[in-house]
Amino acid sequence: MSLLSPVITIDGPTASGKGTVAHRVAKHLGYHYLDSGALYRLTALMAQNKGVALDDEPAIAALARALPCRFDHGHVLLEDVDVTDEVRAEAIGVAASKIAVLQEVRKALVDLQVSFRNTPGLVADGRDMGTVIFPDAQLKIFLTASAEARASRRYKQLIEKGISANMENLVKDLIERDARDSARTAAPLKPSPDAIILDTSEITAEQAVQNVLEWFAKTQKSA
Ligand code: DC
Repeated sequence: MSLLSPVITIDGPTASGKGTVAHRVAKHLGYHYLDSGALYRLTALMAQNKGVALDDEPAIAALARALPCRFDHGHVLLEDVDVTDEVRAEAIGVAASKIAVLQEVRKALVDLQVSFRNTPGLVADGRDMGTVIFPDAQLKIFLTASAEARASRRYKQLIEKGISANMENLVKDLIERDARDSARTAAPLKPSPDAIILDTSEITAEQAVQNVLEWFAKTQKSA
């Protein structure tokens, strides 16, 4: 492992398309991929399974510190159980957002996130990848999109999976979650001053991927 492996960070609010864009950019470059939200979701799921209250900071930090998870060919395993779909549920996203305000929990997940930085490089998506976890990243992107555009994307994803959804509730949940993620004192959701802001309301995921790849190629030329 080299600590000097290049990193591209893609931060942004819920359903801004960062997961899709980050995953495709990683695939294109042959880089590793870190879905940091999954770690918060897995911690929340673990707390739920163990009956730990979502505001019990020391207990949840202890779970996060020794998170028994594995990522295997697009599958997410927790204690060797495949939780790929379970971990993406809206309720787990909301629970993840609640435990993500806890400073000790955030600290407990730092080493695990940093350990994804391996050769030939890493694309990391989340809320604080460019501001806190990889401040020296070669390229930092902050994806945005209107709450309506994000809710309608989330709606489509849920319906495609056969999960029933209600647009009004989705918009309300997104706005609440954004407010909690942005207002917290520990690593709030905000663009790093050196991040490029990319609004995806009116562009396709593929266009966003092409933008990121072009910007990254420029950083490589100037390196
Ligand atoms: O990206 P996501 O929806 O899977 O993330 C779930 C929650 O986890 C999100 O509402 C806030 C939290 N999170 C965080 O605080 N920091 C990160 N780097 C990633 C996610």
